[in-house]
Amino acid sequence: MTSESWLTSRRRFLNRLALGTGAAAVSGLFAPGAFAEELTRTPAQTEGPFYPDKLPLDTDNDLLVLNDAITPAVGEVTHLTGRILDAKGEPVRNAVVEIWQCDANGAYLHSGTDNRQKQDRNFQGFGRFTTGSTGEYYFRTIKPVPYPGRTPHIHYKVKVKGQEKLTTQCYVKGHPGNERDGIWRSIRDAKQRESITVDFAPIKNSRIGELAAKFDIVLGFTPEA
Ligand SMILES: [Fe+2]
Repeated sequence: MTSESWLTSRRRFLNRLALGTGAAAVSGLFAPGAFAEELTRTPAQTEGPFYPDKLPLDTDNDLLVLNDAITPAVGEVTHLTGRILDAKGEPVRNAVVEIWQCDANGAYLHSGTDNRQKQDRNFQGFGRFTTGSTGEYYFRTIKPVPYPGRTPHIHYKVKVKGQEKLTTQCYVKGHPGNERDGIWRSIRDAKQRESITVDFAPIKNSRIGELAAKFDIVLGFTPEA
């Protein structure tokens, strides 16, 4: 990626954030309408051993750039969006969505990670987003990569009013490693598996090959007003 196209991309990202329309602009898929009875509750998945043991200084929703750094992380740029919904399908406001994942070399932001010597110092590895009234969240990150023993995935934790409500993982649809992954396979229900396995689709006309992924999360409860 040239530095010019990188800066253009970065500027577009920031503009979208400023407008508050990022998620919708990327996916175009926020039509209302799923009926509660059609909703599949998002299955819980193990937290795993690599939730950061020391959070980065920057915990915003752009995992590609640390603070004001010029050099972005290595990886396939992905605009990751979705909505946090309650058991009735209503958007959950003020939900704190946390994600963490390994960098393009398979290293996590954790003192016990593999590949520590190959760590991408420009990758934030962890991010947070607090939902507004639409329940939408938005991250810019990299498409997850496999590491020994695991198919590609992004870890998620959702907190509401300071309480952890769900810990799960999001997977890449069509990745051949999914069928061999013991954690992915531990979900027996086909619809539940489908609900956490999403498309990472090329964004049309993106000159730098950006991807868009949409992962809606349905919590198993309805917050009290
Ligand atoms: Fe992991």
